[in-house]
Amino acid sequence: MTDFLHSGPAQITAQLGVQDASGRSRLRAGESLHRPRSSAQLVIVGNSRSSQNDIFSWHSVATRRDVPGLGMPSDRFGFGTILERQSTTRITRRRAMGAMTPDNIMQLGMGFWASKAMLSAVELGVFTELAAGPANLPALQARLKLHPRSARDFLDTLVALKLLEREDDHYRNASDTDLFLDKAKPSYVGGILEMANARLYGFWGSLTEALRTGELQNEGKHSEDFFAAIYAEPERLRGFLNAMSGISAGAAQAIAAKFDWSKYTTFADVGAAQGMVPVVVTRTHPHLKAIGFDLPAVQPIFEEFVAQQGLADRIRFQAGSFFDDPMPNADVIVMGHILHDWDLSEKKMLLKKAFAALPKGGAVIAYDAVIDDERRENAFGLLMSLNMLIETPGGFDYTGADCQAWMHDAGFVSTHVEPLLGPDSMVIGFKPE
Ligand SMILES: C[S@@+](CC[C@H](N)C(=O)[O-])C[C@H]1O[C@@H](n2cnc3c(N)ncnc32)[C@H](O)[C@@H]1O
Repeated sequence: MTDFLHSGPAQITAQLGVQDASGRSRLRAGESLHRPRSSAQLVIVGNSRSSQNDIFSWHSVATRRDVPGLGMPSDRFGFGTILERQSTTRITRRRAMGAMTPDNIMQLGMGFWASKAMLSAVELGVFTELAAGPANLPALQARLKLHPRSARDFLDTLVALKLLEREDDHYRNASDTDLFLDKAKPSYVGGILEMANARLYGFWGSLTEALRTGELQNEGKHSEDFFAAIYAEPERLRGFLNAMSGISAGAAQAIAAKFDWSKYTTFADVGAAQGMVPVVVTRTHPHLKAIGFDLPAVQPIFEEFVAQQGLADRIRFQAGSFFDDPMPNADVIVMGHILHDWDLSEKKMLLKKAFAALPKGGAVIAYDAVIDDERRENAFGLLMSLNMLIETPGGFDYTGADCQAWMHDAGFVSTHVEPLLGPDSMVIGFKPE
């Protein structure tokens, strides 16, 4: 109640209803209270939103004698005064999802419009095209092969979404889209968006079916092996591995910076995909050598990427399956976006295999969009878990506490969670000396 009173009338938006004791409405929202038409007690009910974004549902009993003292226009109403004066006032408080308008609901519900506009822009290469320099509407329309009916609305939508800027009829990239969505730059992170556009966007259309059946909804819907289904087409394999580089690039830099690599000389990235983590970590720490462990189909794409980065002398590929083979021996084992792919028994098995492959004092690092222990803040992590519902037979994302418990079961000690970038965190555990 104190917060509410201190928030002051000017910061309160109120929906006002006034009833007499019989429950009949005497005043409607927008009317002021200094002209009550009845001498009966007034029961005033309403909702107010404070500057702290709390919604207060209030219910106040006022006598006629009190009401004239409050006379002021309802948009500047002194509800705090009512609450101070009336001992019979009841107030309940709940955390607001947003303002008392449907705006937030609509923005979330229709969010796929903006999402798909951006994904199509990445697909069409809008940001790569504009990285060469600003262009006007006719030039962009021709270069991007857009229909005259759609071009202006599409490009201006991207301006309104702050992905592009427009000046004197010329469009250009916003500074962040120029850095991260131009395919020609090494900082490009759009691989994951290309995959989202080509695959996930459609599969998420079957979310309700997944929620009802608990079954995956992707290419593997009618196949036993999810990765075999994804990797069956070379183009899809390359797209998936490239997407993994986009999603793990930021995490790789944070892992390179935040983990103490000085005590170790080797590490293995298990389920390495294209090898973004070995590339970034070995580049940052020249004393390290790395192994990328993944399915045999991944080898040529991994080796091509590592060679492009000039690190082939310090990073090698080891083909295998972590279900059938032991993990490579190394001082540190990294598993990025691996544990969330698998069900609980598989997660535990993977941690046990990591423990077996490490020397005494070695470390395991598992990183994912680790969900907060209360399971109420990391919306991306929770949505990622729904993505795993759509993508895998039994995968799910997990909290830091969950993962630490599985690590302890496997024999690890001194476990802790370290935030990386955005929604990602790494969970670290050590094999006892
Ligand atoms: C979701 S991706 C994560 C890639 C990378 N660690 C990252 O964070 O970007 C999962 C990786 O696990 C690999 N993988 C799947 N099944 C595997 C298996 N049985 N043995 C080894 N690697 C496997 C996939 O090929 C893929 O590269």
